[in-house]
Amino acid sequence: MFSRLSLLVSSIHILLLAAPPFTSALGTSCTAPLTTGTAAPQDPYWLETIKHQGISAFNPDPSTYQVFRNVKDFGATGDGVTDDTDAINAAMSTGDRCGGGTCGSSTITPAIVYFPPGTYLVSAPINTYYYTQMIGDAKRPPRLLADSSFEGKAVIDADPYMADGSQWFINQNNFYRSVRNLIIDLRQMPTTAPAIGLHWQVSQATSLINVVVEMSKENGTQHQGLYMENGSGGFMGDIVFNGGMNGIYVGNQQFTVRNITVNDAVVAIAVPWNWAGWTWQGVSINNCTVRIPLALPGPAHLQSKGQGVGSEAIIDAVVMDTEVFVSTTTPVNSSLGGSLILNNIVLHNVPVAVGVQDGEVVLKGTNDTTCIQSWAQGNVYHGTDGQPVFTQGSIPGPVKAGNLLDSEGRIFGKSHPQYADYALDQIVSVRSMGATGDGVTDDTTALQKVFDEYAGCKLIFFDAGTYYITDTLIIPAGSQVAGEAWSVIMGGGSKFQDESKPRAVVQVGEACPSNFLGITDIVFTTRGPAPGAIVVEWNVHEPVGVQGGAGMWDSYIRIGGAAGTDLQLAECPAGSQSPNCMAAFMSLHLTQGSSAYLEGTWAWTADHDMEDPQLRQINVFTGRGLLSESLGPVWLIGTAEHAALYQYNLNGAESHWIGLAQTETPYYQPVPQAPAPYSINKKYADPTFEGTVGRAWALYVQRSWSITLFGGGFYSFFQNYSTACLTNVSCQAQIFNVDDASTIQVYGFSTVGTDYQLSIDQKGIIDEASNPTGFQQSFAAWTRW
Ligand SMILES: *[C@@H]1O[C@H](CO)[C@@H](O)[C@H](O)[C@H]1NC(C)=O
Ligand SMILES: *[C@@H]1O[C@H](CO)[C@@H](O)[C@H](O)[C@H]1NC(C)=O
Ligand SMILES: *[C@@H]1O[C@H](CO)[C@@H](O)[C@H](O)[C@H]1NC(C)=O
Ligand SMILES: *[C@@H]1O[C@H](CO)[C@@H](O)[C@H](O)[C@H]1NC(C)=O
Ligand SMILES: *[C@@H]1O[C@H](CO)[C@@H](O)[C@H](O)[C@H]1NC(C)=O
Ligand SMILES: *[C@@H]1O[C@H](CO)[C@@H](O)[C@H](O)[C@H]1NC(C)=O
Ligand SMILES: *[C@@H]1O[C@H](CO)[C@@H](O)[C@H](O)[C@H]1NC(C)=O
Ligand SMILES: *[C@@H]1O[C@H](CO)[C@@H](O)[C@H](O)[C@H]1NC(C)=O
Repeated sequence: MFSRLSLLVSSIHILLLAAPPFTSALGTSCTAPLTTGTAAPQDPYWLETIKHQGISAFNPDPSTYQVFRNVKDFGATGDGVTDDTDAINAAMSTGDRCGGGTCGSSTITPAIVYFPPGTYLVSAPINTYYYTQMIGDAKRPPRLLADSSFEGKAVIDADPYMADGSQWFINQNNFYRSVRNLIIDLRQMPTTAPAIGLHWQVSQATSLINVVVEMSKENGTQHQGLYMENGSGGFMGDIVFNGGMNGIYVGNQQFTVRNITVNDAVVAIAVPWNWAGWTWQGVSINNCTVRIPLALPGPAHLQSKGQGVGSEAIIDAVVMDTEVFVSTTTPVNSSLGGSLILNNIVLHNVPVAVGVQDGEVVLKGTNDTTCIQSWAQGNVYHGTDGQPVFTQGSIPGPVKAGNLLDSEGRIFGKSHPQYADYALDQIVSVRSMGATGDGVTDDTTALQKVFDEYAGCKLIFFDAGTYYITDTLIIPAGSQVAGEAWSVIMGGGSKFQDESKPRAVVQVGEACPSNFLGITDIVFTTRGPAPGAIVVEWNVHEPVGVQGGAGMWDSYIRIGGAAGTDLQLAECPAGSQSPNCMAAFMSLHLTQGSSAYLEGTWAWTADHDMEDPQLRQINVFTGRGLLSESLGPVWLIGTAEHAALYQYNLNGAESHWIGLAQTETPYYQPVPQAPAPYSINKKYADPTFEGTVGRAWALYVQRSWSITLFGGGFYSFFQNYSTACLTNVSCQAQIFNVDDASTIQVYGFSTVGTDYQLSIDQKGIIDEASNPTGFQQSFAAWTRW
């Protein structure tokens, strides 16, 4: 808990920040600001009718490779009667795409597989290829109807199994997938069929948005809405599961879920295993038998590793007419069982809040209404003594800054904007305006001209492509930007070479005006070397009273490891230390006057070459991950990996909600030791490294207040590419430092491979030895006071 004084100070800051007037710097060709969509109700979604001229710049044949595929152009009928399976799979696979068991990853065959309104009957799985967005009409979401004779694992399969048991993709590298605006209907299949809506065995840079799965509600139903046996995700939100044996079954290293509803399932959410844990934000469960059975110690294939659940952190849930809210498979009477955090939970007619399967009741519910303010199971810590207290009971909950909450006191959330009601004349295409996206031509001037003319009055559409820029692109506050299958903005050239004078590739807003801003489906990157590049500098604050008004969804910062970056296997093989592989000064900088809502923002420095058939490891050096100096509000639902100095650095930051944060220390360290190959730059509040002995910090907190980390997984797997250090959990000494002047509240937290899980002023406080929970070490909560 932090002091009232800091709360007060923080709200004063917020008021001061809100004071600058709403700046409405409209583009020069604008007549009026873009406020509401003007499409007629019967118009198709603009994504269907906009001119399709996206390209894949580094495809062997960019002039013929088709990015956007309307399934009807491939023969699908959407009439609910004709079998559309082959047509949809043709739309998915045409163009020598990456998948089928012969290609493990690639960025050069991106696609949108688009579904106009209708009902698409399918009799076999739709196998999704690498780098695919499956998008339904956002106004009238189409239905994928599984035929009664459906055969195969799942209606949508993100990682198909082959006859020999191997899979198309390595589950931890299964990046770049999104499914949006689709209803999957299993109800024609026999109740007893092991039907699955989505086999979603995925990693980072993946999302589900606005997806519904309809299942049988008959006694004995075997249907499952979503099945995920492993992976390293990820984000999903605005999802609904009706009926079924399991609403969802989810085992994955880590994940963030926002706004999930499960109705009428036997088991709402089944959790076989995880490491760092899962953060659940906004959960609604109705009429299920059990909400979450936590598998402890885990299913057979993991039992030998002692792998159960590291952590589950659940906030803002409403559960109705359900027998048991959370149930564990075995009694948990020590921290070995992983941690469970409950915050702001309302139960209506839920007799058992937390219980053991067929056993004791740990926390009672009632047949009336029960409210759980803040409850934990697992080791709880306070202050500097490092003594764990195993707790199964109420704990002080996070003190949440008011500007992070919605009108009902829940953590505010905002869905990925899809601009469903925009008319075509409200959208301007950057290719139509002269940018090429060909990965070669310098598009700086052409892109800047589009923003200068249309910022604030048109949705600026980045047709698929790689837009190479050689100087800072300014995205003015007020802009709305949408990519197509992750359009790439790539900075390179002489302006980004000076590490001592770093320069933004993309500068979002100038001097922190208060205005709307939204960016979706863009990848930001560099062409190496670019040791002076700040890939994204964020300077915009949401307008007064418009929470989440400045945000980014399903947009990633990706450095190296992809075609066109000059930071691949050929240039930067593992173990090499080429100055030409210094790829960026920093991934993302949130400046002091900014606010940000970042959902599914993965800032990744490539550890392997995605275009290499063997996915071989590479040494690409990014100086810094995410630096936030923002006074808030900031919602951070993302991950950061492999920067040399740190993954997250909070400096003078306030009012941040972070859930879940996942990080990995660079695999090459300590060869060279952090900060090498970069130098310390005090202007950017760089940390020092006494505590880590030359390794990157996962999270470094300086003079920051009102920060809640609700779910964290900080991993250090390697020393100079060797995992021998994992045996003794000693790949690095420290990983997470808080200075004595900061108040950060930590819940549902796990680490891998580090001696100390948390340090104050670079003195180790929480020893991992107290918290073994499997491959990872976990504790339930730490607060400073
Ligand atoms: C469901 O089926 C089982 C097994 O057939 C049976 O024992 C049980 O009574 C049935 N429950 C309901 C509510 O029909
Ligand atoms: C992923 O899950 C499958 C099915 O449970 C299991 O056979 C496989 O070993 C798992 N893979 C990894 C890498 O954990
Ligand atoms: C939650 O998801 C549902 C279903 O997509 C949607 O209707 C609702 O608006 C979402 N709520 C929030 C707060 O995002
Ligand atoms: C509760 O779920 C059961 C089984 O799924 C279903 O048969 C019943 O109609 C549901 N009750 C309500 C009130 O929705
Ligand atoms: C925990 O529970 C197990 C199983 O009921 C029991 O064998 C063990 O003695 C208990 N340990 C403690 C510390 O209570
Ligand atoms: C609720 O529980 C109380 C006490 O156990 C019991 O008397 C009452 O009948 C129950 N009400 C319902 C609706 O089940
Ligand atoms: C790092 O590992 C490589 C490959 O195993 C080895 O050749 C090299 O000597 C190691 N470097 C150091 C400093 O340990
Ligand atoms: C781990 O610790 C044991 C016992 O201290 C030691 O024998 C072993 O060499 C260590 N292993 C590694 C990989 O450091």
